[in-house]
Amino acid sequence: MAKALGFGILGAGLVSPFHAKAINASTGGKLIGFADVSAERLGKLTAEFGVKGYATLDEMLKDPAIDAVCVCTPNHLHCEAVLKIAAAGKHCLTEKPPAMSLKETDDMIAACKKAGVKFGCTVQCRMRKAIQTIKGAIESGRFGKVLQADTYMKWYRAPEYYHMDAWRSSRQSGAGVTVQHAFHYIDLLQFLMGPAKRVHAKMSNLAHPDVKLEDTLQAFVDFKNGAQGVVQASTAFWPGIDVRVEICGTNGAAIMAGEKMVTWKFKDERPEDEAIRQIGNAAQATAASGPAAFGFQDHGVVIQDLIDAVAANREVCIPVSAVRPTLEMVLAMYHSAARNAAVDLPVQDDPSIWKM
Ligand SMILES: NC(=O)c1ccc[n+]([C@@H]2O[C@H](COP(=O)([O-])OP(=O)(O)OC[C@H]3O[C@@H](n4cnc5c(N)ncnc54)[C@H](O)[C@@H]3O)[C@@H](O)[C@H]2O)c1
Repeated sequence: MAKALGFGILGAGLVSPFHAKAINASTGGKLIGFADVSAERLGKLTAEFGVKGYATLDEMLKDPAIDAVCVCTPNHLHCEAVLKIAAAGKHCLTEKPPAMSLKETDDMIAACKKAGVKFGCTVQCRMRKAIQTIKGAIESGRFGKVLQADTYMKWYRAPEYYHMDAWRSSRQSGAGVTVQHAFHYIDLLQFLMGPAKRVHAKMSNLAHPDVKLEDTLQAFVDFKNGAQGVVQASTAFWPGIDVRVEICGTNGAAIMAGEKMVTWKFKDERPEDEAIRQIGNAAQATAASGPAAFGFQDHGVVIQDLIDAVAANREVCIPVSAVRPTLEMVLAMYHSAARNAAVDLPVQDDPSIWKM
């Protein structure tokens, strides 16, 4: 039997246990340990999972038992970590957003390519059965011409959420509903439609006056494939309701709410359609009402895929290069909101968007 792929998790915060549970539930993966600058957080998770603790990433990377690292640090720290992980010759899965700029993203992709290591991103919502089914129907032409692709994320985060950790209220660290929470659903539109050619965004703070961030985003998107779209995303709306992704074409329409397929209707009804309408019926919470109110299954699919990709020496299911266009859409939204004007893609990096 092949040796298990040894995983280290960088960061022992909120999302790290989801990675740890997914590794424990995998076939062929083994959790070796966590690294965190906070001894208290490190102690808590190493005790909970019965694994090693490392005070720094460098220390973790020296351990020959570590073959792959999940980067679960705040958004502005991903790039620095990924470059070190690649230099150490270890495979890498970074949390979303992959980085804060296109340059950082390109540097990370180049470093991983040069090192010959796998490099994926946990925009795990792509792996939901409803999304994969919609994607298949788009690719087979079942929707006809896709006219509209929207996402509505009416979530709630209590004021305390923004003060749990310093980075959560710091735009320069990658906080703000657009780059932090809505990233997943902007990514789903990009996954389904392909890249955008123009965005027009408005950002506001409706319910978190003590932080200098947008808690609400409205954006119009023109996709290169000719479809148009709306992104509406907020953490202001109590109690928080499941995110919706809505696709309308000339021959059919599909809507996912949370992970459930709530609409699946085509001019050519097929025998398999009734089963597709049941997707997500045993639905899990999908983080609408709290930052840890979700299951680890979606992360599990991405982690299992990394293990399988290493074994088969193939590309991972969500390479960071495939998420770069999502980051570009997000950056364009910040440019657009700052100028109060539509912005055409491609955009250039401009660090001033992270200052408020
Ligand atoms: N995919 C998802 O569904 C999902 C959900 C939540 C968070 N995230 C992402 O995961 C990342 C982490 O988010 P979180 O909510 O767990 O944050 P967090 O603040 O709870 O945890 C981050 C941890 O990193 C540690 N840390 C900071 N600098 C470090 C360093 N240099 N070396 C080692 N450890 C360091 C902190 O002490 C902290 O424990 C973010 O990128 C976030 O966007 C993704």
